[in-house]
Amino acid sequence: MVGKSSAMASPISSFFLILFLHLVILLLLSTSCGSSRSVQSTKHVGLFIFGDSFLDAGNNNYINTTTLDQANFWPYGETYFKLPTGRFSDGRLVSDFIAEYAELPLIPPFLQPGNPQYYNGVNFASAGAGALVQTFQGEVIDLKTQLYYYKKVEAWLRHKLGNAEAKTTLSRAVYLFSIGSNDYMSPFLTNSTILNSYSKSEYVGIVIGNLTSVIRAIYKRGGRKFGFINLPPLGCLPGMRIIKPENNGSCLEEVSSLAKLHNIALSMLLPILEKQLKGFRYSFFNFNINLRQRMNHPSKYGFKDGREACCGTGKFRGVFSCGGKRLVKEFQLCKNPSQHIFWDSYHLTERLHKQLADQMWSGESNAYNLRDLFQSL
Ligand SMILES: *[C@@H]1O[C@H](CO)[C@@H](O)[C@H](O)[C@H]1NC(C)=O
Ligand SMILES: *[C@@H]1O[C@H](CO)[C@@H](O)[C@H](O)[C@H]1NC(C)=O
Ligand SMILES: *[C@@H]1O[C@H](CO)[C@@H](O)[C@H](O)[C@H]1NC(C)=O
Ligand SMILES: *[C@@H]1O[C@H](CO)[C@@H](O)[C@H](O)[C@H]1NC(C)=O
Repeated sequence: MVGKSSAMASPISSFFLILFLHLVILLLLSTSCGSSRSVQSTKHVGLFIFGDSFLDAGNNNYINTTTLDQANFWPYGETYFKLPTGRFSDGRLVSDFIAEYAELPLIPPFLQPGNPQYYNGVNFASAGAGALVQTFQGEVIDLKTQLYYYKKVEAWLRHKLGNAEAKTTLSRAVYLFSIGSNDYMSPFLTNSTILNSYSKSEYVGIVIGNLTSVIRAIYKRGGRKFGFINLPPLGCLPGMRIIKPENNGSCLEEVSSLAKLHNIALSMLLPILEKQLKGFRYSFFNFNINLRQRMNHPSKYGFKDGREACCGTGKFRGVFSCGGKRLVKEFQLCKNPSQHIFWDSYHLTERLHKQLADQMWSGESNAYNLRDLFQSL
């Protein structure tokens, strides 16, 4: 610039200077238009939520099930909502924080009565649900049924917006999944003999196979941006540590090893889908590592306890009794849930959910984080 300023004296250069200034103004105008358009579209990126109790915001309040799969009673919700909503936590879930960061309102449960609007997405997740229909069958909304509900929402959007705009809405939306934990835990919690019929890797194969068909079905109907959360070390949940008293409270390795196999299979699946399905993009969150780090070093993350639940009965408060509305009526409740990683025998505190959501939203990862997915078109 310094070198060029001497040339500005001649009339020809000032002509170029004016042309240059016009170009700059044009560029500035077009980029500001561009950015205002992308701000607008960021607001129209919806969030569709599939899965289990990790993400259920209250669908199970509206189905015929038992209190084992419900959390619509005190002290669930006491920290944030001040009333039970059906969320399996003392407060908000990962998906609530993600919605907030994406400048969306709280995403309502699909089954919540009222006058539903689906422009911002909707939550299909159901506590107890698995990828297999056999998992807690009859008591939950299994993943296939969640897909069926998604198809109804798709039809609603087509009706309201027309085919083209509905398709744009669906392709810009983010599809968040947490599924699998119940497929692997239920055989240990019920008298199910399903694990006798398959080898471990066959069983993981059918869980992943069923998940894959749901992903493909959503893709076929326009979904492009997916967020996946892998499985935690399931055997270390307080409720699983107490299943075999002879283990003396150590993690139940049989179920953790299934989760590990599942996580390997999921990590192999996603790059394959990315290759096969044009435009498919995904964010992958390593929940397993993030939870292990916090269980092993709770104080590093601001927690006092990495093993014992805040709410429940017995050792590690591992008996699933929080609220006193299930089989066991007596339960203990800690004073300060935010000192705990685990809220009840199987679920996490709001504080932990927020830490996970922060990582998922803006964390470094080799694929996209969720912020990338929301901000791209
Ligand atoms: C709910 O389920 C129970 C047990 O499965 C059954 O006896 C009852 O009829 C069901 N109620 C409704 C309203 O479907
Ligand atoms: C499993 O079966 C036994 C014997 O039939 C029964 O006593 C027990 O309650 C069952 N447990 C569950 C979790 O269904
Ligand atoms: C889905 O799960 C069922 C069992 O519920 C199994 O028979 C079927 O093979 C699975 N599908 C795929 C594609 O793996
Ligand atoms: C079981 O755990 C307790 C406390 O964690 C310990 O004192 C005891 O030695 C353990 N017993 C066995 C058999 O490992």
